[in-house]
Amino acid sequence: MKITFLGHSAFYLTDGDHRVLIDPFLTGNPVAPSTPGLTAADINPTHIALTHGHDDHLGDTVAIAKRTGATVIAPFELGEYIGTLGVENIELGGSGGCIKLSFGCLCFTQAFHSSSTDNGRYMGPACGMVVYLGGHRIYHAGDTALFSDMALIGELYTPHVAIVPIGDRFTMGPMHGSKAVDLIKPSVCAIPCHYNTWPPITVDASQFKPAACKVEALKPGESMEL
Ligand code: NI
Ligand code: MN
Repeated sequence: MKITFLGHSAFYLTDGDHRVLIDPFLTGNPVAPSTPGLTAADINPTHIALTHGHDDHLGDTVAIAKRTGATVIAPFELGEYIGTLGVENIELGGSGGCIKLSFGCLCFTQAFHSSSTDNGRYMGPACGMVVYLGGHRIYHAGDTALFSDMALIGELYTPHVAIVPIGDRFTMGPMHGSKAVDLIKPSVCAIPCHYNTWPPITVDASQFKPAACKVEALKPGESMEL
């Protein structure tokens, strides 16, 4: 399977048949790639998975879902809200729950963060997620503080890859992100996200150096194969 970083917190996971787009904030994202096939206008996911309702995660979800018919997988209140905007295929879930899908499954995990849209409208709890795709398990922590139960997430889901925010201010910074990965213990690598998009979350990413596994610091538009 292939993991492509689309800048900020957006990732595109593909196994050839299924294409899962996570937190597609592309329009207005200053580091989103302009590569054909990876833009808001032409990306073609089968599924869109959302961690929470903030604009830098909800992003282009509604427009892409309407254009492609992709199924949106979202925490309950956020998914209900998206339904009111005319998106037809929605799978609702919540922290701790797993949803069986055509590509495998998606399990929502807890995250320590808020979730709102539309000038503060409550969008339920913020979540992370573990995506089972192409025989691999990818844990995207969402926007979150460090919490010790990341070790339990690592134990329960044994992820191959952990994607963690390191931009500080709103989420973990590089040091806490490193500790997070050491709790999760992914078997292949860690990918940092949610940093260097704008000045307020610009950090020295060289400080992200977990002991548990190697780091794959993908640049926006770059991919890695598993
Ligand atoms: Ni957020
Ligand atoms: Mn965010």
